[in-house]
Amino acid sequence: MARQKHYEQQEVLDLEFQGHGIVKPEGRVVFVEGVLPGELVDVRVTRRKKGAAFGVPTAIHRPSARRTEPFCAHFDECGGCTWQYLGYEDQLRYKERFVADVLARLAGITEPTPLPIIGCERDRFYRNRLDFSFSPTRWLSGKEIDAGLDIADRRALGFHVKGRFDRVLDIDTCYLQPDPSNEIRTRARTIARDLSCSFHDPARHEGLLRSLIVRTTEDGEVMVILVIHEERPDLAATMLTELGRAVPAISSAHYVVNPSRNDDIGPHEARHVYGTDVIHERCGPLRLAIHPKSFYQTNSRQAECLYTVIREWIDARRSDSLLDLYCGIGSIGLFLADRVARVVGVEYVEEAVAGARLNASLNGIRNAEFHAGDVRELLAAAGRAGSPIERPDLIVLDPPRAGFHPAVTGELLRLAPRQIVYVSCKPSTQARDLAALSTLYEVRRVQPVDMFPQTFHIESVVDLRRREGVV
Ligand SMILES: C[S@@+](CC[C@H](N)C(=O)[O-])C[C@H]1O[C@@H](n2cnc3c(N)ncnc32)[C@H](O)[C@@H]1O
Repeated sequence: MARQKHYEQQEVLDLEFQGHGIVKPEGRVVFVEGVLPGELVDVRVTRRKKGAAFGVPTAIHRPSARRTEPFCAHFDECGGCTWQYLGYEDQLRYKERFVADVLARLAGITEPTPLPIIGCERDRFYRNRLDFSFSPTRWLSGKEIDAGLDIADRRALGFHVKGRFDRVLDIDTCYLQPDPSNEIRTRARTIARDLSCSFHDPARHEGLLRSLIVRTTEDGEVMVILVIHEERPDLAATMLTELGRAVPAISSAHYVVNPSRNDDIGPHEARHVYGTDVIHERCGPLRLAIHPKSFYQTNSRQAECLYTVIREWIDARRSDSLLDLYCGIGSIGLFLADRVARVVGVEYVEEAVAGARLNASLNGIRNAEFHAGDVRELLAAAGRAGSPIERPDLIVLDPPRAGFHPAVTGELLRLAPRQIVYVSCKPSTQARDLAALSTLYEVRRVQPVDMFPQTFHIESVVDLRRREGVV
């Protein structure tokens, strides 16, 4: 194996938009994790990807005055909140700048400058969902190895180790999700051990317990979903029942059998064991039912802020039809339904579409309809004879991190709605898509919203208007 390069006494020049510090030994850029501008560091190059070098600091000789002490005991190893060494206000300032940099660099958009970021009131315990993984052999931390501890039982329930998707860190206290999340995880681990359940090993593709998903709502409803590897309904039900006894706050319990090699539970049925079959989240005037398999924004409070931005920006007329693409449980379209004549939502997870319909009726909204299918396919038919989707006046879209397929860009340009509001959790793919839409659309406003404190992730909302005289 080639020797890894090591550089000493390097000054960190800046941060790039994925949170890496930039150093330039011998005139070549190395992206370094865990460092801040102005720091003087030694760096070991650990990997190269597409011609770029990435590294880790081996020493920090001159720390930044902005460096803070991470508050979580698992910080060094956990792949979760990787930005704890910077105060929350500083994180916000950088995120604001990242959005502006990405738009300028990848899409050539320098005007308008993004609006000031909307930060979170709570920078801890802000998530409504966590996915914990089981493992038969937990990762030993550097401190445990140094202490020479002899840990006989290494069955773990926690998060993946930073950069290691095959290794699980046993988590003691996590600061991401409110109570009773920590108690549920701790109890589940003990119950699983007491019941002698096997913990899943992905390399060997064996072991019953794969993961435990905990979903919470602002009003204290709690859903757990146990993901198991093979048909053992008896054990799944026993484990969930024991867990419910230990943590009575659990209001909805399900399990999913996933025998496949990947962790996506999308294709597998969620089986209800006890409690309510869905939980309910408040979002402004709406009450939203959340099914075990439906996507919902993981920061409920900020979701409301995000949707309020969209509502303020939407330039709606009473006769307009609005298309909500990648609609999940219909939350954005339903949030806007009273402003337009008709809302049509598109989403490929069937359960989410059923949830969207349920949410429309739960909130007495009669002018919204939802269609299950791939956005690319449904959009290709939209506005044509026989399609349930008419040519929209307005489109709101909120795709996954990868952004949308080039064919979707083509269809958006064909349908040419008056306004598009593009919500993205990955500004770099959003910038790519904006560049592709720029022949017909100009950017009117950009609003960064922080949904994910203590991480580099950032949500960005862009208001696009059709250029005058082009269509
Ligand atoms: C970022 S979420 C947005 C959900 C929703 N707008 C919200 O605010 O909760 C993206 C959604 O797009 C769905 N999705 C991803 N790719 C899709 C595709 N090609 N066609 C239809 N839906 C898709 C996912 O299932 C997920 O519900």
